[in-house]
Amino acid sequence: MKKKLIAGNWKMNGNLAANEQLLKAVLAGVGQPACRVAVSVPSAYLAQCQSLLAGSVVELAAQDVSAYESGAYTGEISALMLRDFGVRYAIVGHSERRQYHGESDEAVALKAQRALGCGITPIVCVGETLVEREAGQTVEVVKRQLAAVIRANGHCVSEIVVAYEPVWAIGTGKTATPEQAQDVHAVLRAQLKAASPNADRIALLYGGSMNAANAASLLSQPDIDGGLIGGAALKAVDFLTIIAAA
Ligand code: PGA
Repeated sequence: MKKKLIAGNWKMNGNLAANEQLLKAVLAGVGQPACRVAVSVPSAYLAQCQSLLAGSVVELAAQDVSAYESGAYTGEISALMLRDFGVRYAIVGHSERRQYHGESDEAVALKAQRALGCGITPIVCVGETLVEREAGQTVEVVKRQLAAVIRANGHCVSEIVVAYEPVWAIGTGKTATPEQAQDVHAVLRAQLKAASPNADRIALLYGGSMNAANAASLLSQPDIDGGLIGGAALKAVDFLTIIAAA
């Protein structure tokens, strides 16, 4: 059985002192987890977190990566730069990037391609808004978002991680029920299987108000291979409880 993946997404939170405190507490409690563990930190703190995590079981992740290789792209951070800091995963297409930074499905697909090209595993986020869910468009939306990534990456798609994050569940305390999440995960799994013979190895994460109390029931679903955790990843005790549940 493939190992589950629990990835924290700190978003734009933290500072030097708080990061150190949080990571030290996570490292003190994590032991030898049954799952893979990563933390996705603000890029300003990659160097700090790389050194705090050195030699530990917790891997480093970025929250975004440029769709470009190098050059005149002010403010962007390339996949090669992330490699320099030992980054193992990069989130791409988080709904906050799609919503506030206008990232299209095609831009997200290119970002995934750049990451893969540098040996970084993209965590590709897909998910519907509340309006889309209520209009019965959930499946159509997530399939369209994933299709762009499949088109751009061909057989390499077996090397990605996918995170299903319903936008209405992110940071709202409203979690998808395990059944709602499983239904969408099954759709994504089938789409990936049709695209790649090695799709079974792709981890499908759930994200959106996953916390210490609901993690176990979400993670017990057959197609939920882990979680992308926002708010609860900022508290060591909660993050450790989720890791233990996986
Ligand atoms: P949340 O965020 O756990 O705070 O809902 C998840 C995410 O946005 O990745």
